[in-house]
Amino acid sequence: MQQPGVTTPATTSRAVQLESFGGPEVLDLREVPAPQAAAGQIRVRVTAAGLNPMDWFMISDAETAARFGLSLPSGFGTDYAGVVDQLGDGVTEFAAGDRVFGAAFSRAVAGHVVVDVPGHIATGIAHHTPDGVDDRTAATLTIAGCTAAAALAVVNLGPGDTVLIGGAGGGVGVFTVQLARFAGARVIGTGSATSAGALRGLGAEPVTYGDGLVNRLRALAPAGVTAAIDLFGTEAAQAARELGVPDERITTIAARIDGITPVSGANAAAGAIEAIARLVAAGQIRVPIAARFPVEQIRAAVALQAGRHVHGKVVIDL
Ligand SMILES: NC(=O)c1ccc[n+]([C@@H]2O[C@H](COP(=O)([O-])OP(=O)(O)OC[C@H]3O[C@@H](n4cnc5c(N)ncnc54)[C@H](OP(=O)(O)O)[C@@H]3O)[C@@H](O)[C@H]2O)c1
Repeated sequence: MQQPGVTTPATTSRAVQLESFGGPEVLDLREVPAPQAAAGQIRVRVTAAGLNPMDWFMISDAETAARFGLSLPSGFGTDYAGVVDQLGDGVTEFAAGDRVFGAAFSRAVAGHVVVDVPGHIATGIAHHTPDGVDDRTAATLTIAGCTAAAALAVVNLGPGDTVLIGGAGGGVGVFTVQLARFAGARVIGTGSATSAGALRGLGAEPVTYGDGLVNRLRALAPAGVTAAIDLFGTEAAQAARELGVPDERITTIAARIDGITPVSGANAAAGAIEAIARLVAAGQIRVPIAARFPVEQIRAAVALQAGRHVHGKVVIDL
């Protein structure tokens, strides 16, 4: 990771871009003009970017890209962390040199990003990075943390709950499991056998996904499951239904199921991500970094993430 140049008025930068849709092979690291902060914006010298499944999913073909509003040439990636290195007129919330993290839709894997203050995911979002949270960790927080917070708000866990979390060892799972434990719930998390140790480390009781899940859950929780969050598809949600969990205590982030409320990171309550960042700073939530790659190896990083067997988050160093 390079030291960010706080006072250097960068005119050139680097960015991962694509000129056709497809797999990791369409991603190239290019020299580009540095974006400039206009009024009401800040520019961030990005030091780390976190990957999410949406990054590679939405560039996979033209039809999918169009649904996300992407056109070519496009940037890549959304979660970032770094240091403010340029202020547009009228910005008072940030100063040059402030450490920030946030989301900049489909352009975050770059040397610099410009974001609105205040903004939303398309125009960019920035939050102050709390002391005690390093940039690589900060770069993992926004998409996964907001999604976990939004999912937990639907099922509203407390002590006495036993929650089933499907796909619990992935990027969203690491936040969801720990926040559910923080709320006092017993957590049962699905994963392959290779996830068991990672899930226990987060505070979940592991159960393998696939055929026979309902029977394994009955054995593990004879008193029953009271809520479910499906972070992978439909299996955990359907298993919860079979075990008698009412639909209003089931949610999904990665599929649609009739009668069950889906949720997205955009539904997170105001302040949710700052609260998660404070928990990370206090050591009450930890973020396992499954792998980190220099930006020159973006294709390998995306291929690993797209394999769907990552435990924790994948981070790009810039
Ligand atoms: N709606 C939203 O706002 C939103 C936001 C973020 C993510 N998402 C979506 O939510 C999903 C999860 O995101 P993520 O970042 O957590 O993904 P991720 O990090 O890629 O998830 C990887 C995890 O999935 C597990 N997994 C693989 N196959 C599975 C299966 N058949 N059943 C259950 N788990 C399985 C893996 O466990 P093993 O290695 O043990 O197999 C691994 O731990 C993605 O589809 C993503 O697009 C939606």
